[in-house]
Amino acid sequence: MIKPNAVEDGNTGAIIKMIEDAGFRICAMKRLLLTKSDAESFYMIHKERSFFGDLIKFITRSPIVALALEKDNVVEDFRKLIGSTDPEEAEEGTIRKLFAKNVEENAVHGSDSDDNANTEIQFHFASKEIV
Ligand code: CMP
Repeated sequence: MIKPNAVEDGNTGAIIKMIEDAGFRICAMKRLLLTKSDAESFYMIHKERSFFGDLIKFITRSPIVALALEKDNVVEDFRKLIGSTDPEEAEEGTIRKLFAKNVEENAVHGSDSDDNANTEIQFHFASKEIV
């Protein structure tokens, strides 16, 4: 998921280029505005965290771009490409190092397991939209 700050800053294309150049294939893609209830459901796992309310406000403030990606070892390799959640800890050359503003407005989200990737892909896409 490319987050509102990166879309607002006009970095959608640059981020997609990095994703493709790193060998990921795009199986599905859409730009959409998440509703509050979409966002609360997507980030349900974080609902007890102190930053949850701010995260929901941030992720719903303007459109995101959702992508379903394919590659060998996709979850782990994508997490390497995006870098640490906090851009101050992210390695040079990672998407978050280049495009995140701070730990909340961190430009992109990547699934953290194969199971969560399946859930999150189904959250965003109908099966006929995944090619
Ligand atoms: P993401 O990988 O999408 O998963 C949960 C999101 O919560 C995370 O990226 C950040 O956008 C946000 N987040 C995580 N930790 C913090 C924090 N300490 N303060 C504010 N937002 C955070």
